[in-house]
Amino acid sequence: MEFNEIKEGKATLSVTDSVFYNPHMEFNRDISSLVVGAVSDFPLTVCDGMSASGIRGIRYAMENKNIEKITFVDGDANACKLIEKNIVMNNIRIDARVVNDDINHHLYRGGFKYNFVELDPFGSPVPFIRAALLNLRASKYGFLSVTATDTAVLCGAHPKACLINYGSKPMNGPICHETGIRILISNVVKTAAPLHLGAIPVFSLSKRHYMKVIFKVQKSAKLAYDAMLKLGFVSMCQRCGNIKTYDRPSIERSCELCSSTLDWAGDLWLGKLYDIELVDKMIGLNTVRGYTNKQKIDSLLKLIKSETEMPPFYYDLHAISDKHGIPSPKFEYVVNGLMANGFSVSRTNFNPTAIKTDAGLKDVLQAMGIKNTK
Ligand SMILES: C[S@@+](CC[C@H](N)C(=O)[O-])C[C@H]1O[C@@H](n2cnc3c(N)ncnc32)[C@H](O)[C@@H]1O
Ligand SMILES: [Zn+2]
Repeated sequence: MEFNEIKEGKATLSVTDSVFYNPHMEFNRDISSLVVGAVSDFPLTVCDGMSASGIRGIRYAMENKNIEKITFVDGDANACKLIEKNIVMNNIRIDARVVNDDINHHLYRGGFKYNFVELDPFGSPVPFIRAALLNLRASKYGFLSVTATDTAVLCGAHPKACLINYGSKPMNGPICHETGIRILISNVVKTAAPLHLGAIPVFSLSKRHYMKVIFKVQKSAKLAYDAMLKLGFVSMCQRCGNIKTYDRPSIERSCELCSSTLDWAGDLWLGKLYDIELVDKMIGLNTVRGYTNKQKIDSLLKLIKSETEMPPFYYDLHAISDKHGIPSPKFEYVVNGLMANGFSVSRTNFNPTAIKTDAGLKDVLQAMGIKNTK
């Protein structure tokens, strides 16, 4: 076997072709490591489930002071050998174990109690979520971090697969990334509730190839119930682009603005996607870490901070302009127009040409200089 040495964050790693390592996920791991560092003052006992080369868990352990113990789990024996090598290579001094097992079996069987569980599978994390939540239940309070790479499913390219895997109807189109991440959250909330666990997202990220959500998980029937009440539906007019959310299954048949047929998605999470205090702490931590992606992360976190209090979903100004056959107006022109009329407006990390706002489409159209709803 041929080995190569790579550097990422604080870690130096040995990687080989037969064990998965994707350098394009460095940004995901940077962000996740910042969440780990900012999310708790108490010591974390981490399960890096599906660890492959061990890069994620090794970085968490090297970059954060709040990790007391870490267990790396992978079903592939070669991966486990590589993780052992990488632990030694990076001189990891905290209690670190490597377990060659199926992640569900490991989390279910007892004897290993975690308060931070990482799930980083190929594709959908759904088959592993219940085992992770049951394990976290023993700690009463902890965190679940999931990555989904089946974004085509969550974004509506395969609606049948989304219904089977996530129990929700997706919707392709301009808001599919936010819809997809809210469907992923809904699945975790619905899996947690019968276990009397409240699962609340503290950080969410959608990039082209993956969606990442980190949840605070607490044992409480009340919190489980409160979280369930934040599930709902969204509709979008295929003709004019009008968007509406519903906290119950009572989706209107036709658009209130142009009477056209509505498409819809759900159930999905309608609550907040971020904990603003956590985002603030992450911004601070990022300034003292020498990540290659430091500037990119800073811009993203500041953008996220500006949209934490905004309502779900967004209007893509380019898509609306196309629908109405006009050139896209200047972004600032629309923002200033809406703000002058008393609305809140922000950009969104989901789409660089979109705005989040508490204004309805009618007011957005007015600010864009469009008089009639098409
Ligand atoms: C996407 S890779 C993990 C990437 C890694 N966390 C990183 O950041 O580079 C998925 C890993 O999960 C392992 N795996 C897949 N199914 C598993 C299962 N049911 N139980 C344990 N490990 C599993 C694979 O062997 C593979 O190493
Ligand atoms: Zn309409």
